[in-house]
Amino acid sequence: MSLLIAPSVLAADFGRLAEEVAAVDRAGADWIHVDIMDGRFVPEISFGPPVVRAIRRATAKPLNVHLMVVEPERSLASYAEAGADHLLVQAEPGSTVHLHRVLSQVRELGKKSGVVIDPATPLVWIEHVLHLADIILVMTVNPGFGGQKFLPEMLPKIAALRALCAERGLHPHIEVDGGQDAKTVRSVVEAGADVIVAGTAIFGTQDYGAAMDGIRRCAGQ
Ligand code: DX5
Ligand code: ZN
Repeated sequence: MSLLIAPSVLAADFGRLAEEVAAVDRAGADWIHVDIMDGRFVPEISFGPPVVRAIRRATAKPLNVHLMVVEPERSLASYAEAGADHLLVQAEPGSTVHLHRVLSQVRELGKKSGVVIDPATPLVWIEHVLHLADIILVMTVNPGFGGQKFLPEMLPKIAALRALCAERGLHPHIEVDGGQDAKTVRSVVEAGADVIVAGTAIFGTQDYGAAMDGIRRCAGQ
C-alpha cells in the first residue's frame, strides 16, 4: 500500500478554515483528518457537525472523522449527514460501552468504519472487532491536544497489529496519529502503518506541499 497523508485540521487557522482545507487539498493531501473533541472523553472541545459541513464544502477529499467523544453512537448519523466519509470511534469503554455495535452502525450508515486505540489500550481489546474495521488508528500520543511528542513505544504495537491482521487475512488501513513528522514517518511505515495523520508538521509550516513531500520522501515513497 502506498502511503496516505491526512493533515489534521486541528492545527489549522480556524479563522480561515475553508481556505486552509482547500490549501492542503491542493498541496496533495489524501484524506482530511477531522478531530472531534467533546470536553468529556478529552478535556478540550473542538467543533461539531456544522463545522464538519463547512469543511465538506471546502474539499472533495475523504473526511476522516476521529470522534474523541463519549457515546459516539448518539452522533454518528449527524456526522454522516454532515459529510464524513470515515467515522472512527475510540475503543475504550470510557467512550462507548458497545464497540461492536457502534462499528456495525457506521457501516449501516454506508460509511467506512474505524476503531482508535489509545497508547495504553492493548490490541486484545479490539481483537474481536477487527473484521468490522476498515481503518485501525493507533494513537501515537495520548489524545486531546495537537503538538505532542511521538511515543516510539507504540512501534511494536503497530507491528503486532499488522501481523495480527495478516494472520486473519484482513487488510485494513493502519493509521497513526500524534507527533508525526518527517523524522518519525520511516519507523511507523516500517512497522506497518500506511496512513499518517499530521497536524503541526503540516499546518505549522509555510509550505504545505513541501511539508507533505518531505514526509513522503522520508517514508521512502
Ligand atoms: C490528538 C489528535 C490529533 C492531533 C495531531 O488528540 O487526535 O489528530 O491533531 O496533531 P499533531 O500532528 O500536531 O500531533
Ligand atoms: Zn486525531
